[in-house]
Amino acid sequence: MISVAIDGPAAAGKSTVAKIVAKKLGFTYLDTGAMYRAFTWYCLEKGVDCENEAACVNLIPEVNIEMKPNNVVLCNGIDVTTAIRQPRVSGNVSYIASYKDIRLFLVEQQRNMAKNSSVIMDGRDIGTYVLPNAEIKIFQVATVETRAKRRYEENISKGIQCTYEEIEEDVRKRDRIDSGRAFAPLKPAEDSILLDTSHMGIEEVVNAIIKIITDKFPETRIYE
Ligand code: DC
Repeated sequence: MISVAIDGPAAAGKSTVAKIVAKKLGFTYLDTGAMYRAFTWYCLEKGVDCENEAACVNLIPEVNIEMKPNNVVLCNGIDVTTAIRQPRVSGNVSYIASYKDIRLFLVEQQRNMAKNSSVIMDGRDIGTYVLPNAEIKIFQVATVETRAKRRYEENISKGIQCTYEEIEEDVRKRDRIDSGRAFAPLKPAEDSILLDTSHMGIEEVVNAIIKIITDKFPETRIYE
């Protein structure tokens, strides 16, 4: 079994490439950001202020997040796959992800998912905290402008209303909160490989990651 950790700032293209790599190698893919988003969605549904740590942490016992194999995300049985990509969730998720109790609650589930199969997990703290013994750790970066442009185009293609300026501001804000928080902040693991994708297309990044994995584990099978 192999664990691959892909960390990096918001909208660096981690989930797009991780999904493809997982499919090609037959690994389980886990988008840990989607779990923080689902929790945020629930707080907003309940009308709880996401900047109020105690009120959000109080909701832990009533939140059940399920990550389905087809990348569907359920929160208390409700399909929130699309809803968690809305700007109101993106604009609040960094607060939720900065609360230690909520992180511990979700990290336990993330670690359990890596126990029984080869996984590719993407997030902010996978290589440093969730899976410190992951065989492969990649820190995927791109400039703020590249990331904001990619996320803007992705939102528009999904019918999510937004402006480029809003997205750039959101990306900068999340970089600041994700890197500055006290518990498990965004930072490269010492043994991670830095992958700057600012000038790379999706296929190029996918191939680069597969090469890193197969160089270390030549017996890895590629399915398509
Ligand atoms: O990858 P994303 O944009 O969907 O992540 C949403 C937020 O969740 C992001 O602002 C940082 C946080 N996050 C985190 O703190 N730790 C993770 N392992 C994954 C995401």
